[in-house]
Amino acid sequence: MSLFTKKSIASLLAEANETGENSLKRTLGGWGLIALGIGAIIGAGLFVRTAAAIAQNAGPSVTLGFLLAAIGCALAGLCYAELASSIPISGSAYTYTYATMGEFMAWIIGWDLVLEYAVGAATVGIAWSEYLNNLLVEVFHMSPIPYEWCHSPFQVSPDGVSGIINLPALGIVSLLSLLLIKGTKESALVNNLIVIIKVAIVVLVIAFGWSFINPDYHTPFIPEPTKYTDHHGTTYNFGGIMGILGAAGTVFFAFIGFDAVSTAAQETKNPKKDMPFGIIGSLIICTILYVLFSYVLSGLAPVDFFRDPAKGGEASVVAAIQEAMHGYGWLSKSITVAILAGFSSVILVMLLGQSRVFYSMSRDGLLPKVFSDLHPKFKTPYKGNLVILVLVALFSSFVPGDVVGHMTSIGTLFAFILVCAAIIILRKKEPNMPRQFKTPLVPLVPILGMITCGAMIFGLGWENWARLLAWLLLGFIIYFGYSRKHSKLKD
Ligand code: ALA
Repeated sequence: MSLFTKKSIASLLAEANETGENSLKRTLGGWGLIALGIGAIIGAGLFVRTAAAIAQNAGPSVTLGFLLAAIGCALAGLCYAELASSIPISGSAYTYTYATMGEFMAWIIGWDLVLEYAVGAATVGIAWSEYLNNLLVEVFHMSPIPYEWCHSPFQVSPDGVSGIINLPALGIVSLLSLLLIKGTKESALVNNLIVIIKVAIVVLVIAFGWSFINPDYHTPFIPEPTKYTDHHGTTYNFGGIMGILGAAGTVFFAFIGFDAVSTAAQETKNPKKDMPFGIIGSLIICTILYVLFSYVLSGLAPVDFFRDPAKGGEASVVAAIQEAMHGYGWLSKSITVAILAGFSSVILVMLLGQSRVFYSMSRDGLLPKVFSDLHPKFKTPYKGNLVILVLVALFSSFVPGDVVGHMTSIGTLFAFILVCAAIIILRKKEPNMPRQFKTPLVPLVPILGMITCGAMIFGLGWENWARLLAWLLLGFIIYFGYSRKHSKLKD
């Protein structure tokens, strides 16, 4: 059978409407999706990666990085929305690609989405671990967890202690995987509460922090281009256009999640109407908050503060508040607690997205059946969740946050490019397919989406390109070794 075998749109829609033993429960509406979206979107990208982008790439021009990333996401989001509203079935970009570009490309994207969801969950788990230390020290006045037990073996503290394993990150991803097995409905309820708290703390930081902005830290707004080498010896392009592109690639992480909304299509009551609403709505709300927040954060402390692991290099937002906003101890303490809860909701949605993608791939025969076996009572793909847990646990325990963060960004950017391409192809090949939401100005919007996402991939540098390539090569081995032979479309 050809590598380009496609699933027919009709068979996809039949699957979406299927009700039976192995189908998922429909419990989510439009606002539920926005909540799911914001639950997935606001997290480590804002509260950890923003400071990394200030320190490593762009200083205050991180704000421009956020704008560029938002433009890329909006363009890709418009493409996602068309696909999600016309092919309302679990599996996200994977399913869309299967229908438009054939099995091999679908495999590539499904495999690539592991970077977005599983590795993304690991990144947020690592960020959770940073803020847990803050909670222990600042709120409970205890000693921090020793460096070696909350860092990967590839990290060394400024005073020479080597990391061994990140135990808090391991703990949180394990706990949430188990919660997920109990079901989406309960998790969505908890998620809604957390979303309210999360938006509230972002607004509070913007509102109270605004008057503490030091204009000196915003001058020059775009630093002169230079190189910056951190204490692990990694060198970055700092300042200028390359700095902004690198920052955009880094903080792009903060937008990941709006597309996770589309992975829940099979659990949505009225996907054709609710999907575009959920995707675009959550994206708009977050963009406004991010641009304002990064403007405030970069104005609270100088770049060197965010480069120093003992100061703003970890748990950066709370560290910056403590440094610059005297009298706001209550804010930094409540933010620590809120961030821990907020990160948990992000991890949950990422794990959910991952298990749904594997679920779809397994139903197509590209992955073993174990990923689509549903729990008899909870109706969740519980065995798949357990396998994913092992994968996420390995990344979060043994790989540094910077590395997994960038891998997540580059993997997702690549997926977005394929989604944009899918829109153009689908308009040509399936012109009469019913579309509840149509991407405006095709092919201009998808092409601009591809260019913007491509520019961010460029900004992330050769080490990350190499990691993406290595990951895709591993995927090819699995595809030709297993998936191709087991594909249900084979016969
Ligand atoms: N957008 C999510 C976050 O920032 C992945 O944590």
